[in-house]
Amino acid sequence: MGSTTSKLPAYDVREELKPENLFDISAEQIDDHWNLYKGYVKQVNTLNEELVKLRDAGEVGGLVYADRRRRYGFEYNGMVLHEYYFGNLKNNQNDLETGDLLTAMTRSFGSYNTWKKDFEAAAKSRAIGWAILYADTTTGALTNHFIAEHGNGNVAGFSPVLVLDVWEHAYMVDHLASGRGDYIAAFMKNIDWDKAQERYEAVKAGKITPRF
Ligand SMILES: [Fe+2]
Repeated sequence: MGSTTSKLPAYDVREELKPENLFDISAEQIDDHWNLYKGYVKQVNTLNEELVKLRDAGEVGGLVYADRRRRYGFEYNGMVLHEYYFGNLKNNQNDLETGDLLTAMTRSFGSYNTWKKDFEAAAKSRAIGWAILYADTTTGALTNHFIAEHGNGNVAGFSPVLVLDVWEHAYMVDHLASGRGDYIAAFMKNIDWDKAQERYEAVKAGKITPRF
């Protein structure tokens, strides 16, 4: 029997990422959503502790271990994607007008407006999940993806540049369930393009895309 103490560091809630004074997304909506994000951080930390304990107790063949293992990626992505999402929100109300990211977007999509329409269409996919502008870290090409729940649709090794949460919890304080389109329109007015640009520069420099 080994130690029952987890060697993994516990994750903290990244308070500095909590957005304020957004355009058409209320503080009440962000508060409610933030509480869900905090729940994911707690779950990741708990799961890491439980998996180590089960492993040390030699119970990796059991149902409890199988259940915790199944939840692992869901909870991790739930934490990480919310950090990217909150981290790219800012009351901006400007389109992307300059820089390497725009150049790459133009190369991959033809124009900013074509990218934008494609991203919005991805975000309107008839499922709960995320729209993510991903950069291929090998080629630098940009593509828009829809991720069902938190896990199904992510591309291994690609780096997220812009992340939009389209689970209904992301907008149901402000809108009805049918209001996803209004919420997406509001999101597009609250993109921190400097942050997205910083993430893309990291990809170009061969670094891991920072999420905070
Ligand atoms: Fe969310």
